[in-house]
Amino acid sequence: MHSDTNRQDMHSHLLPGLDDGAKDMNDSLSLIRQLRELGYTRLITTPHIMSGVWYNDADTILPALDAVRAETERAGIDVELDAAAEYLVDDYFESLLEDKTPLLTINSKYVLVEFPFLALPVTYRSVFFNMKMAGYEPILAHPERYTYLHGQLDFYHELQEAGVMLQVNLLSLHGYYGTRVQKMATQLVNAGLVQFTGTDAHHQRHLDALSRSLPDASVLTKLGDAVIKNEGL
Ligand SMILES: [Fe+2]
Repeated sequence: MHSDTNRQDMHSHLLPGLDDGAKDMNDSLSLIRQLRELGYTRLITTPHIMSGVWYNDADTILPALDAVRAETERAGIDVELDAAAEYLVDDYFESLLEDKTPLLTINSKYVLVEFPFLALPVTYRSVFFNMKMAGYEPILAHPERYTYLHGQLDFYHELQEAGVMLQVNLLSLHGYYGTRVQKMATQLVNAGLVQFTGTDAHHQRHLDALSRSLPDASVLTKLGDAVIKNEGL
């Protein structure tokens, strides 16, 4: 059952200074404290890895995770914190797969990826295939936010058949990104294509919106217990 006091999140940007999320340690602690107050007891945070923009890997992410864990403990925030990453599907990501570089995973097998916001990567089929062949379970972040795929439920059925899971942003369902994104998110949910939800929390505006919309939990109820895998993480 969904509980208002035992939420789990698997998509956010809470480590200080690594991407366009938390700016510094104070910012990290503030966002994490507010998420805890919203009922999140486990947060798997996912810094961007985006060639040319955010150069992250285990060497930047894991020490930052250790530092934030130590500070949350010192601050008395009772939350379980882990880190993976949100990989942009780009040439760099393909080179990681080709080189068999171990990827940062959620629960040792799920890998969160995102598409560019401007155009579908032409190689997406082989990328997902290669991920599966390497033993990973791909999760596509916020499918509702790619405007070039709006209305294309067939595309997402195809992904599901290829073994790709989908994660919608809670704020999309609540209309934060506009009505078209909200509509696509709802269509994906109603089609049974959604396995995970995420806060995708980057900054205070996201927290403000989450704290306005999350307590009503109606969207989560609509999603249904069966399709949401967050709680198994
Ligand atoms: Fe994200």
